[in-house]
Amino acid sequence: MIPSSIIDDIRFRCEIENTISGYVQLRRAGRNLKGLCPFHSERTPSFTVYPENQSFYCFGCGVGGDVIHFVMRMENLDYISAVEYLADKAGIPLPSQNGEFERDTGVSRKRVLAMNVEAARYYRSCLLDERIGANGRAYFHERGLNSVIISRFGLGFAPVSGTLRHLKSLGFSETEIQAGYFCGKNERGYYDYFRGRVMFPIIDVSGNVIAFGGRVLDDSKPKYLNTSDTPAFKKSKNLFALNFAKKYCENGFILCEGYMDVIALHAAGFQNAIATLGTAITAEQARILKKYASKVIITYDSDEAGQKATARAMTLLEEAGLDAKVLKLTDAKDPDEYIKKFGADKFRQLMEGSRSKFDYLIEAVTEKYNLALDEEKIKAINEVCKAISQVYSNIERDIYIDKAAKIFGVDRKSLLGDVERLRRRAVKDDDKKRRADLIRSVSGSGDRINPDYVRQPKAAKLEEEILGMLFLHNELLHTALSGGKLTSEDFFTDLGKRLFIFFADAVENSGFSMGMLGETFTPDEVSRATRMLLNRSELPKNDEETFRIYAEQLRDEVKKAKSGLSIEDIIKQKRTQK
Ligand code: CTP
Ligand code: MN
Repeated sequence: MIPSSIIDDIRFRCEIENTISGYVQLRRAGRNLKGLCPFHSERTPSFTVYPENQSFYCFGCGVGGDVIHFVMRMENLDYISAVEYLADKAGIPLPSQNGEFERDTGVSRKRVLAMNVEAARYYRSCLLDERIGANGRAYFHERGLNSVIISRFGLGFAPVSGTLRHLKSLGFSETEIQAGYFCGKNERGYYDYFRGRVMFPIIDVSGNVIAFGGRVLDDSKPKYLNTSDTPAFKKSKNLFALNFAKKYCENGFILCEGYMDVIALHAAGFQNAIATLGTAITAEQARILKKYASKVIITYDSDEAGQKATARAMTLLEEAGLDAKVLKLTDAKDPDEYIKKFGADKFRQLMEGSRSKFDYLIEAVTEKYNLALDEEKIKAINEVCKAISQVYSNIERDIYIDKAAKIFGVDRKSLLGDVERLRRRAVKDDDKKRRADLIRSVSGSGDRINPDYVRQPKAAKLEEEILGMLFLHNELLHTALSGGKLTSEDFFTDLGKRLFIFFADAVENSGFSMGMLGETFTPDEVSRATRMLLNRSELPKNDEETFRIYAEQLRDEVKKAKSGLSIEDIIKQKRTQK
């Protein structure tokens, strides 16, 4: 099985928009992009790319999935080959070169940790070596790092060749060295992964060296090479510099994108700075942060990608119960550059002015519209109302309505009325859509991909809602499982049951990612699963409460099914209910 971390890496590095634009001409349509479907012929575009979910779906032919599924179909590759194809493009080395993704290498965590310490020592001694380390030292110097900070972070330099030889001389076998992610193997034998790179060791909260990130000294690609998952390391569960930051986080963490940002911040006295390891922040990482602090200030790069990631990180952190704020950098691309240009004091001032999700939204809207013009002001207010209407907590909504009323100088009551109207409409749309789907699925000639659907459409529809929520918010699985609220036995259709079992198993083991479905499910089934996810992501409510209600309804429906009601009975029942 291909580990979810690799799939996440691929999804992160091969952004779906970029990859698909190589094949299809895409036009922006709101938050999404549209184009003519490459999988069936059409004149008006129904092929849609969803950057937020890193998915695509065609409403014309029902084909969908993530970037891996796209390449599978487009290049006519099987799943493993599609993964290899994309990994190769993105410069992500795969655990083994022959397409076998062995998870169990037989190498122990203890051995890998011992090897990591030796490697860190070696990289450090290379950096300090007069001749070998000259370029590495010059690089760090140029980036403003002094020897104190270099040694605090244990930074080093990997020479063009040598790691493999060195570790072997210490008694580590080639199998072990490969399992530790220091070398790969091709026809000509084993070769070093980290060559001519400055090295950033990653240290866990217990002080173990668990992984490395290596940066090139010039503009060559890939800029960073990181240890992939090993017996001693799981990327989605660790954060860079948490070993230091956990001692300085009583007022919260500063979350940034890059190793260099973290180091620059620590050097400037912000020792509560951390970064994820070259991927978007995961729910697991958010939960870990919650153990140490209750606040996080996000300060991602000021480019478009960074700002998009900010919105996503904010949601994830809030879901983990953290108070998330955003610090937006102006006139600098990242915190590293900001501190160099303007100094630590200016950064501290920025931090004091960091904004909540709502303030962040208000600022974006007020920047976008000219509030002196009635027409534009109305648009701005509508946008803000829409955002408020999607907030789940009543109290939070109340606070935001107050604030918005003051900012726009309008009556609080009218705002409240607008927000409530939008909320009612969202619920109604949700209902309407479900009914339309139901009718379509029953009146059609059957469902080829999920043949059980027509036997019990209401249950099947609920299953899709539930699975869609789970795919979007993996942590809901714990809501599902706690107290035996939902089991695979509660699923009526065979496809639903199989998807749930696969999903639950993945979440409990390696972590789930939509891309993993391709290994077990047919392309059509993957398309269907993607539709479930995208259907849910259009809706405002993704909370535990809704999830519980759906689970309960599903159990009721399945009970009914088992007691032998026909479709006609159910449709009749539905009519009389209305
Ligand atoms: N990253 C990665 N692989 C890449 C590019 C980036 O793993 N090919 C990760 C690294 O952890 C990096 C972070 O994403 O630190 C942020 O990327 P980027 O902003 O490109 O790098 P910086 O940290 O700003 O690096 P630098 O300042 O050295 O250019
Ligand atoms: Mn950066």
